[in-house]
Amino acid sequence: MSCNCKGPKSDLTLLNNIFEEISCVPENLITVLQKAQEIYGYLPEDVIYHVADVLGAKPAEVMGVATFYSQFRLSPIGKYLIMSCQGTACHVNGSKRVSEAVADYLGIKHGETTADGLFTLENVACLGCCSLAPVIMINGEAYGNLTPESAVEVLKTIKEKENGEK
Ligand code: FES
Repeated sequence: MSCNCKGPKSDLTLLNNIFEEISCVPENLITVLQKAQEIYGYLPEDVIYHVADVLGAKPAEVMGVATFYSQFRLSPIGKYLIMSCQGTACHVNGSKRVSEAVADYLGIKHGETTADGLFTLENVACLGCCSLAPVIMINGEAYGNLTPESAVEVLKTIKEKENGEK
């Protein structure tokens, strides 16, 4: 079934290597989606249709899997991916308040991207630097011992840098 998606067209040839490496059967759906997300950064609608087509599955089934697992994203991520740790050490040190302050400041909910495409906020499990709890990681860089205020300051600094570069 072809896709009548309204979104931007993806370069579907980028998927060819995946289909050469992995046998095209519905049982491999999750692996294929993981690799597709590595390529595109998320799972565009036309990619979902194409994967369904090649694996012999229904697009609704593929979409069902893509929406069920939190590891999959259905929209592009921002320039800065904020991973807000909600692991145990961070939780007992106030990660919920930090995360809420970040969400409020950006005007988005978890899993969403700001309208300017700058920030995506995701709640994640332990980031592996519990001694710094509570921690957020932005594009791989860890910021620890945060308060709601200091987390917002980090974002303000990034925004200022971005505005200065324009
Ligand atoms: S619990 Fe947050 S880094 Fe481990």
